[in-house]
Amino acid sequence: MKCFEHYGINGDAMEITVSASENINGTLILPLFEGSDSVPEKCQAGMSSSMKNQINRVLSDGDFKAKKKSTMSLYGGEDGKAILVGLGKADESTIHDYRNAGATVTAAIKKSHGNEMTVRFDGAGIPHMAAFAEGLMLRDYSYDNYKKSDDGEDKVEVSIRITCSEKEEEELVGKVNTFKGVCKGVHLSRDLGNCPPNDMYPEVFADMAREWAKDFDNVDVTIINYDEAVKAGMGGLVAVGMGSSRKPCMVIFEINKDVKGRCPVLVGKGITFDTGGISLKPGANMDEMKYDMGGSATVFGTMEALAQTGYEGKVVGITCMAENMPAANAQRPGDVIKGLSGKTIEVLNTDAEGRLVLSDGLWKAGEFDPEYIIDFATLTGACVVALGHEATGLWSNDDEFRTKIHEAGNAVDELAWPMPLLPAFEKEMTDSKIADTRNLGAGRWGGANTAAAFLKQFVPNRDYDKDGEQITWAHMDIAGTYWGAKTNLMVKNGATGIHVRTIYHLITNS
Ligand code: BES
Ligand code: ZN
Ligand code: ZN
Repeated sequence: MKCFEHYGINGDAMEITVSASENINGTLILPLFEGSDSVPEKCQAGMSSSMKNQINRVLSDGDFKAKKKSTMSLYGGEDGKAILVGLGKADESTIHDYRNAGATVTAAIKKSHGNEMTVRFDGAGIPHMAAFAEGLMLRDYSYDNYKKSDDGEDKVEVSIRITCSEKEEEELVGKVNTFKGVCKGVHLSRDLGNCPPNDMYPEVFADMAREWAKDFDNVDVTIINYDEAVKAGMGGLVAVGMGSSRKPCMVIFEINKDVKGRCPVLVGKGITFDTGGISLKPGANMDEMKYDMGGSATVFGTMEALAQTGYEGKVVGITCMAENMPAANAQRPGDVIKGLSGKTIEVLNTDAEGRLVLSDGLWKAGEFDPEYIIDFATLTGACVVALGHEATGLWSNDDEFRTKIHEAGNAVDELAWPMPLLPAFEKEMTDSKIADTRNLGAGRWGGANTAAAFLKQFVPNRDYDKDGEQITWAHMDIAGTYWGAKTNLMVKNGATGIHVRTIYHLITNS
C-alpha cells in the first residue's frame, strides 16, 4: 500500500549537521538583517574574497534588503554560490523569524544549488539557530509518492551544515536533534492526512500504529476493533462507521505506560472520509474530507515526536477512526443512539459525526486517570468561518488551562484562539425532545461553539464519580488549520501537521 511505502521516508531528504568548523562547503546560506550593507564580520571566515565582494555589492546597491521571508540566490561560478535570506530588522527579529527564514530557504533551494550547503549566522543565539534548522526541516516535505518516480526528479537530497562556535556546538546539536524528532512527528501527521481515502481507512490507520509501535520498547498500541467496539457499547463510533464497508475502530497509544501517576490524554477525531452520511454533503470540494482524520493524525504525530525524542513521561492517545458513508445500513437523521457514557444522543444530522465518535473517545479517556484531556478535531465548517485558516479554535472547561495551551501555541507559532464555552450553548445541545443530548444546534449560529458544548457533555468526572469534578479538558477545532493554510510557511500544500509542535511543547516544556 502506498501509505506504508511512504512511512519513514519523509524528513530524511535533508540532512542537517552542526559543526564549529570555519569551512564553507557547497552553497553558502547567509541569514541577514534588514539594513546590512556588507557581509557581517562574523560571517566572513572561510569566504573567498570574490564571494564577499559579490555579496557586498548586492547589499550596498540595495538589491537585497533582507526583509523577512525574502531570499536571493547568487551564482558566482567557480567562486561558489550563495542563498541570502532576510530576517527583518535586527532589534525586532524573533525566534519565529529565524524559523520562517529556515523554511523560506528550503522553499528556495533548487537543483542548481547542489547538494551541499553551509549556514553562517551573524552572532545568533542558540535557540535562534535551532529554530532556523527547525524551519529548514519542517518545510522539507512534499507528498509525491503517488507520482511516477521520474516526476520527482527535481527533488534534491541536500546536506546542510550549520556552523557555530565551539562552545555552542554541543547545545546546538542537542536542540537540532530534538527538532529532528519532533519534525518526524509533524511529517508523519502530514503523511496520514495527505494519504488518499481509498488507501487510508480505519484498519490501515490501526495497522500503521501497530507497525509503528514495534520500533519502540516503551510504546503500546491497543486496537479495539468493530466487534469489540459494539460489545463495549461505543454507540457513537459504531453509529458513524457502520454504514461503511471499512469498519470503525478505536486505536489507543500509550507511551511509558508503567510510569506512575496522572498523564495527558490526547483524543483525536479520525474520520478517514466524511461524505456527510445520509445528510450527504454537496459535491464541491468533497475530496477535502480526506483530511477529516486530521485530529487522529495530530495524536499519532505527537506520539511519534515524543517517542523519537525519548520522552520519559506517560502519555496516552485515543484515536476514534471511522468512515462516514451513506448506505443501506448507515445511521439516519432521527436515530437515537447511546454511547459509552450511557447518555442518549438524538442524531439530527449525520454530517455532525465527529462529535459522535469523540463522545466515546472522551468518555474512554477517563479510564486513564488523565491529568488533562485535549481533543483535536476537524470538527466544524463554522470554525473555519470564524477563524479562517489562521487559527485553531480553542475551548476549555478551565480558563488557566486554556491560556496555557494558547501560550504553548504562541511559543511555536501555531495559533490557537480562545473561544467561549457558554452555558447557553450547553443548554441548546441538551435540549432534545426525546434524548439527553442532540448532535445539532437549534439554529445555524455559533456552530463551532455548540459543537464544543456538545463535547463537554461527554468529558467524564474524575473516577467517573457522579458528583465529582469534571476532568480538565480542552477542545481544539483544527478544521481550518489542518489543511488549506496558505500563510503557513512551514508547509507547501496539503496537510499541515499543525499542533504536534504545540502539544510537544506543552507536554515536555521544551
Ligand atoms: N468534517 C466536517 C467539518 C469540516 C468542514 C471540516 C469543513 C473541514 C472543513 C464535519 O463533520 C461537519 O460536516 N460538520 C458540519 C456540522 C453541522 C452539520 C452541524 C458542518 O460544519 O457543517
Ligand atoms: Zn461531517
Ligand atoms: Zn467530519
